[in-house]
Amino acid sequence: MTSLAFKFEEITARGLKPELYELDGISRATIEAHYKLYEGYVNKRNEILGRLDAVDLAGANPAYSDIRALKVEFSFAVGGIKNHEIYFEHLGGGGGDPTGLIGDLIQRDFGSAQNWRTDLKATGMAGRGWAWTAYDWDEGHLFNYIGDAQNTYPIWNATPLIALDVYEHAYFLDYQTDRASYIDAFFDNLDWSTVNDWVSKYQIQT
Ligand SMILES: [Fe+2]
Repeated sequence: MTSLAFKFEEITARGLKPELYELDGISRATIEAHYKLYEGYVNKRNEILGRLDAVDLAGANPAYSDIRALKVEFSFAVGGIKNHEIYFEHLGGGGGDPTGLIGDLIQRDFGSAQNWRTDLKATGMAGRGWAWTAYDWDEGHLFNYIGDAQNTYPIWNATPLIALDVYEHAYFLDYQTDRASYIDAFFDNLDWSTVNDWVSKYQIQT
């Protein structure tokens, strides 16, 4: 039998840092809602790879519709994992204007911290799932990208540095339908030192 997921390892959900339970304007219950979904995406990713492993590609009629469903679902699960890992890691700070390397990049590519913030907030209000500030390696600059779901619309060869979750579970418990106030709270809890660690690790040139 020839299978699709011939070699894979199961992954486990990362733990949450304690600061996430003490955010300003984003409740513990909301963080727990994100985490429950995140754990579900980890489990789903592992499950799908196991199911792909069982698909027989050498048979007379490979089940392409099954492969399609599994692979689309896989992209949703992996997106849900990666998006939330960025989200959890870069919250827990004091917010304010971006500092250090990311501050320099934002100044260079958006003109000012305020321009960047206004644009990311508008993108988050317009999106249905996520808004990201990412660095496009081909174009050599930051851009605020829109996402309607966990698996739409990442851009190849762009590295997300900020991930703003705008799914309803991110704000409904704390703000009901007032997404704009939640986005303000998101900015107030960003940890710029974490984002700067990523800029350094990826060696993004400022
Ligand atoms: Fe979430």
